[in-house]
Amino acid sequence: MTSRRTFLQQSAAVAAAITLIPRPSRAMSTDKRPLIVSTWPFGKAANEQAMKALQAGGSPLDGVEAGIRQTEDSGNLSVGLSGKPNAAGFGQLDACIMNGPGHQAGSVAGLEGIRHPISVARRVMERTPHVMLVGQSARDFALSEGQESIDTSNHPALSAKWWAQQERQVRPTDVNADNHDTIALLVLGADGTLAGGCSTSGLAGKMPGRVGDSPILGSGLYVDNQVGAAGATGIGENVMRYCATFLIVEFMRQGATPTEACQQVIDRIRSLDPKPNELGICFVAVDKQGRYGAAGTTEFPYAVTYPGYSEVEKVAAYPGN
Ligand code: GLY
Repeated sequence: MTSRRTFLQQSAAVAAAITLIPRPSRAMSTDKRPLIVSTWPFGKAANEQAMKALQAGGSPLDGVEAGIRQTEDSGNLSVGLSGKPNAAGFGQLDACIMNGPGHQAGSVAGLEGIRHPISVARRVMERTPHVMLVGQSARDFALSEGQESIDTSNHPALSAKWWAQQERQVRPTDVNADNHDTIALLVLGADGTLAGGCSTSGLAGKMPGRVGDSPILGSGLYVDNQVGAAGATGIGENVMRYCATFLIVEFMRQGATPTEACQQVIDRIRSLDPKPNELGICFVAVDKQGRYGAAGTTEFPYAVTYPGYSEVEKVAAYPGN
């Protein structure tokens, strides 16, 4: 398991390796499929795992699951069982997955002690008549599906002591590798089909039972196979009150590029929110044409992978209105 110190050292190394790439222009189309886009620098390893799955003959959905499983296993401090605990000192994980063909979706929230929430979400989608399962019932379902459980009761990061040992209080508006990340990963397949997924341990120190945006369709993730897909990271409450990723896809439907659609949603939220300067939200999006983009209220590095290219790109904090 990666220690906090090691994680921060790795994060610093990744940050140093970030390549500054200009924001894609309005007309930019990669026409290089499959295209994989995900949140944060750690998304690069997830993208590359997703690409391997696609190159092995997997579907975009297989790519999403393989990529996010990589992050859930990576020692990430905000995704999977290595993620930060809630206020009571234990982890409650959220995830969802969407498959463009058939507009299928599956989701889990408040899942405890299961190694791969994204795989449980996929099984909810594929093996139940439902879309979302929560809490102990989601765990029972995961176990009935043979999903691996891990006893985290002695995990050093998942204890009330962890909080006492923190060097500083986590401020809820910080959106960074220290307190609050989410993997949202979008795939545009070589055949033009779309899929996406999202997985997180949620806001560090959240109230037990709190569910964020990540497992909520149209908030943390939305995929429309006719138009595009979008994913979110940041303060879930500020995403889910606005159905942000649904709105991004709708703006793309109306003709906006992925970058413009992400910016327009930030504009919309800023225009409505009583605390427009404390949002702490970031988005990635891809469209059916193979264009991609991002925007955030903070500087936002995100990962982009297509054949012959795999880099962390970065957008500056999107200016206020
Ligand atoms: N964006 C993840 C969460 O707020 O839980």
